[in-house]
Amino acid sequence: MRAITVGKFGGPEVLQVSEAARPVPGPGEVLVRVLAAGVGPWDAYLRGGGWTGALPYVPGGEFAGVVDGDSGDDAGFDDGTPVYGYPGLTGCYAQYVTCQAEQMAPIPAGLPVTDAAGVPINGLTAQQGLTDVLGISRSDQVLITAAAGGLGHFAVQIARVLGASVVATASPQHHEFVHHLGAAVVIDHTQPSWPDQVRDVTGGGARLVLTCAAPTLVGAARAAGDGATIATPVHADYPDAQRVSWRPYNGQPRGSQLIRMAPWFDDGLMSVTVEARYYYENAVQAHRRVEEGQIGRASCRERV
Ligand SMILES: NC(=O)c1ccc[n+]([C@@H]2O[C@H](COP(=O)([O-])OP(=O)(O)OC[C@H]3O[C@@H](n4cnc5c(N)ncnc54)[C@H](OP(=O)(O)O)[C@@H]3O)[C@@H](O)[C@H]2O)c1
Repeated sequence: MRAITVGKFGGPEVLQVSEAARPVPGPGEVLVRVLAAGVGPWDAYLRGGGWTGALPYVPGGEFAGVVDGDSGDDAGFDDGTPVYGYPGLTGCYAQYVTCQAEQMAPIPAGLPVTDAAGVPINGLTAQQGLTDVLGISRSDQVLITAAAGGLGHFAVQIARVLGASVVATASPQHHEFVHHLGAAVVIDHTQPSWPDQVRDVTGGGARLVLTCAAPTLVGAARAAGDGATIATPVHADYPDAQRVSWRPYNGQPRGSQLIRMAPWFDDGLMSVTVEARYYYENAVQAHRRVEEGQIGRASCRERV
């Protein structure tokens, strides 16, 4: 099969179109013919040297495609079913990938296939931060930083679906977008005073915070009230840890939580914004775009 491979660590130019062996599904796994793969900052991090497995490897942690062949009775997916999932950190920039059945789900009718590829990692990470880590519920107020990014734009919509009100941060050119997602208040995080502005609108400091980008970690701590809980999937040094409770976490690949989002997509309560789409042979450009740091999501798709 054709695949994008990384044979040595480096910049985007190390991504190469190659021939690779088609993966063979193991116990509990399903073979998927990939139609699109999501591209995110984690892909660039692994390509630059963060990958600890063997070289060469096939990048890509999220896919949309169709089930290829008999998935077995336990998996319960029919041949040809449109599915999307998060099989692990790698393997999706290829014509075929294998995925544990419980790490994937049918693509909701309300989601185009290439857009669906941009959902699993950030959609699950946003949902888990808000529900499993912060435990937000109806009438809570939550601060979401970097709300215009891939992670943040899902977080705003999910918080609204769950009935919370959202104070968000973003650069000014994204304010209209973030309001449209459902944030009640959007604050300009390019202004040094943004944490004070958050404190003003939250009655002295946010109590529940989801921090979605490394440059907002320090400001998030300043914007948080005493004893606040700050969830983040960004791993770094966490400031002010005596005064606020940091809850670092990693997004988990749970198909059941993709299924939970299906009615939200179908009912128009949630959507994915894909910043750019590339054919798979242009993966180099997709990675360059991701590293510009201003994107929602990019998706690489098979030429059809
Ligand atoms: N551990 C996990 O399981 C996990 C899972 C998913 C994501 N993540 C991490 O979460 C982070 C966000 O991912 P993503 O896909 O949302 O990235 P992204 O789409 O590139 O978005 C990043 C956002 O950061 C904001 N930003 C960039 N520079 C900034 C600055 N100097 N000050 C304030 N904000 C700034 C941008 O907002 P504006 O353009 O509005 O300024 C942008 O929307 C990444 O570090 C990613 O690796 C971790």
